[in-house]
Amino acid sequence: MNIAMPVPRIENTIETNLSMEKAQLLSGLLSPQARIDPKYFYDDLGCELFTRICELDEYYPTRTEASIFDNCRAEIAAALPDAAQWIDLGCGDCAKSARWLEHVAPTRLVGVDIAGDFLQSSLTGVASRYPGIDCVGVVSDFTQAMDIHTLISERPDAPPVFFYPGSSIGNFDRPHALRFLRSIRHHCGQDGRLLIGVDLVKNRDILEAAYDDAQGVTAAFNLHVLEVVNRELNADFDPERFRHRAVFDAEQQRIEMQLVVDREQSVRFADEATRRFTEGEHVLTEYSHKYTIDGFGAMLKEAGFERYQVWTDPRQWFGVFLAEPGR
Ligand code: AVI
Repeated sequence: MNIAMPVPRIENTIETNLSMEKAQLLSGLLSPQARIDPKYFYDDLGCELFTRICELDEYYPTRTEASIFDNCRAEIAAALPDAAQWIDLGCGDCAKSARWLEHVAPTRLVGVDIAGDFLQSSLTGVASRYPGIDCVGVVSDFTQAMDIHTLISERPDAPPVFFYPGSSIGNFDRPHALRFLRSIRHHCGQDGRLLIGVDLVKNRDILEAAYDDAQGVTAAFNLHVLEVVNRELNADFDPERFRHRAVFDAEQQRIEMQLVVDREQSVRFADEATRRFTEGEHVLTEYSHKYTIDGFGAMLKEAGFERYQVWTDPRQWFGVFLAEPGR
């Protein structure tokens, strides 16, 4: 007997304007402080390199967050509303969410991700393991804008629980992070929650090693973005003329990843532009902001969440915050 598997519904909210994206990428590279948006790291090879980063001894965030989840899952789950809509922002293969489903017993899983083709297969896997959960996919660049009010309101009795692990919030600059938190708060209504992982401020040596590992995986990840730009803009960067650098800016409380020019070069961007990169200057590729518990708590409050709880590890290297609107 064949039992038909539920096929997850996928909604697409992305309107990609490729020419505008390319124009933005080019304009970042031509501006006095050249920069590349970190979203360009994540082509197939970039994703593979990022997976390797997460396994490195020096890169503690993934492992530390996982240990907090493992140690505190029952307690965190008990603080969540029943019969929720679990909304995984940047769900990827849904592996992180899958560990919560039995504890939280949501009625619906909404997987949001920019990679649409992958979303279908990830959610089909979850739907076949948990036939009682309605699985829905949303293809969205939620870091820019998110509007899933209509989807959420299909289930008025199921409060949304937004799940945003991995400290990806650190890759936004602070005003953008605040805007993003406000948007989530807005979607939460009265009873929703936000469960978010945040990397905490710590000793410079530990931070810089996490972003400049001994095996050079992070360096390869950073340098690879130049190959992506070559493809996207038909440019001719020579990655061998650049060197990876990761510095902690204590005042801004952030790691800054840079590609430093070792040997001057002129780069052509198709037939549209040329730019000379002089020795010693750098291209900014990523910020990774670190927060104190009080600092992130204050940001949650500013975004409109009145209460939060936080779980951390014995060294207080990473924080898992559960924020709620309050009444
Ligand atoms: C995805 N994001 C949270 C990572 C971070 O730690 O900021 C990206 C990363 N860049 C270098 N290593 C990891």
